Amino acid sequence: MLRTHTCGELRLTDLNKQVTLCGWVHKSRELGGMTFIDLRDRFGITQLAFNLDWDKNMCELARKVSREYVLQITGTVIERQSKNKNNPTGEIEIKVTGFKILNEAIIPPFTLEDETDGGDELRMKYRYLDLRRSVVRKNLELRHRLAIETRNYLDKKQFLEVETPVLIKSTPEGARDFVVPSRMNQGQFYALPQSPQTFKQLLMVGGFDRYYQIVKCFRDEDLRADRQPEFTQIDCEMSFVEQEDILNTFEGLMKYLFKSVKGIDVPDFPRMSYANAMKYYGNDKPDTRFEMKFVELNDVVKGKDFKVFNDAPLVVGICAKGAAEYTRKQLDELTEFVKRPQIGATGLVYARYNNDGTIKSSVDKFYTEEDLKKWAAAFDAKPGDLLLILAGDEEKTRKALSELRLEMGNRLGLRDKNTFSCLWVLDFPLLEWNEGDPNLPESMRGRWVAKHHPFTSPKPEDIEKLKSSPGEVRANAYDMVINGVEIGGGSIRIYNKNLQATMFEVLGFSKEEAQKQFGFLMNAFEFGAPPHGGIALGFDRLCSLFGGADSIRDFIAFPKNNSGRDMMIDSPSEISEEQLKELGVKLS
Ligand code: AMO
Repeated sequence: MLRTHTCGELRLTDLNKQVTLCGWVHKSRELGGMTFIDLRDRFGITQLAFNLDWDKNMCELARKVSREYVLQITGTVIERQSKNKNNPTGEIEIKVTGFKILNEAIIPPFTLEDETDGGDELRMKYRYLDLRRSVVRKNLELRHRLAIETRNYLDKKQFLEVETPVLIKSTPEGARDFVVPSRMNQGQFYALPQSPQTFKQLLMVGGFDRYYQIVKCFRDEDLRADRQPEFTQIDCEMSFVEQEDILNTFEGLMKYLFKSVKGIDVPDFPRMSYANAMKYYGNDKPDTRFEMKFVELNDVVKGKDFKVFNDAPLVVGICAKGAAEYTRKQLDELTEFVKRPQIGATGLVYARYNNDGTIKSSVDKFYTEEDLKKWAAAFDAKPGDLLLILAGDEEKTRKALSELRLEMGNRLGLRDKNTFSCLWVLDFPLLEWNEGDPNLPESMRGRWVAKHHPFTSPKPEDIEKLKSSPGEVRANAYDMVINGVEIGGGSIRIYNKNLQATMFEVLGFSKEEAQKQFGFLMNAFEFGAPPHGGIALGFDRLCSLFGGADSIRDFIAFPKNNSGRDMMIDSPSEISEEQLKELGVKLS
């Protein structure tokens, strides 16, 4: 070893020890005849002291090094004159007697402090420097801890970690595949897995009983703060189970992670049907850290002269507790917010239930105070509350109100990152009609698509409706939602060949297509497939949730930007004519 200790471990109890440390120059400063260097490594920062009176040459040498130089120093642990209580090593320093520059460094393009002046793109380009910042490092330490504890829990529950291939054939999970041309099979392509879905099911047919894998998945979809083209799942599958068993096992995992990693006891997860999630929150992943449930007002507001409400299929609102004193400017901001194209509402109606008991609305022209009292009663509003109401097309209006609810949650400080509200959303529809989701390939538009994936089992009592009214069939599927984030999703699977064939038929596959694409799975079902089900948790999302961040990027060592580019290695990139030729790929 080039060192005897790390930069994070020396204390007063080590006084007078001779030590050798290695690390990076974090900062240096001069104070009269003294020079101090903060030496940093993964474990912490230790102060090095040099004095012109102790050793002139060494002190002058120390004055020559700049930030991020790599040093190896030898010295004696001494007590510090002015102690730094914020640093675990802050009571000691090293009186340096030996000094070697292991490597020089040019000036970094941004400051390597907790608060950096580097923009996102710059930090991505020099990610190896960004990784030296303790905030980023701590995120990755958290990721490591979560992975270890996940393995501990699943190992105790007799899950086996099994690796599945990365060069596979396309599995439809609702996004586009990344594909890899095959040199040895010209004109043919592998697909990178969107998830190991079919393999984990085949492991169940193979008798593995309980499988898990912390595994990379690849999806070519539009990117956002919580989506990366390659991301990691805690992917799991169990045999001889019902939905209830999966919910208990993975609620158990999550409680264990909260306890072991954050020291938090989370209560049993409430369960909500998909239908209620949409009705009360306009969202299948409701943030339940706060209530502010939707209240439907069709019966209360219609029949006056206000055309907007009379013509709307749905009038629905929320009650923001204690917000009646919102100023005109704040209300205008909210109106602007809902009218943004991404939100898509045409306008916002509000009513202030003032502390003196009067109610004033933005539509006083059409409604008397008595009418407004009825509105307030529908919301169970109290003096001091603000009612915010949207009207229009069912689906769009719920979606817009859901965004407004989250915005109000932010404004009223109801979305504390240290509060965790977990729930299961159950009884999803098996299928949804896809008009034109740009995330899906052209071939999947204008037809029924699987809401989870095509291997999800319908509820047995709904199977008879599969062909007659596909939209009404509910699935044995579930999502784990925490603080408004879809942390995971899964289902009980179809394990019967005929039912799987019917499912493909409903999804618009011809018999031949289904056989060609999924014959391997349907054939496997003929050899005694056990009843099985599973779940996959988004590991990056879990890390960012535990770390109190919105974006998953800083919990991934080398992430991609929103255009799917790795700015550091500059990928994707062109390949040579020779490579293309070998692969038999022609660019038009
Ligand atoms: P699903 O598609 O719901 O299920 O994915 C499981 C979880 O993975 C996370 N996730 C993502 N995280 C980051 N970036 C992405 N692009 C991304 N896409 C998904 C989410 C999500 O809940 N095979 C099924 C699981 C099963 O049925 O067992 C599946 O992949 O947190």
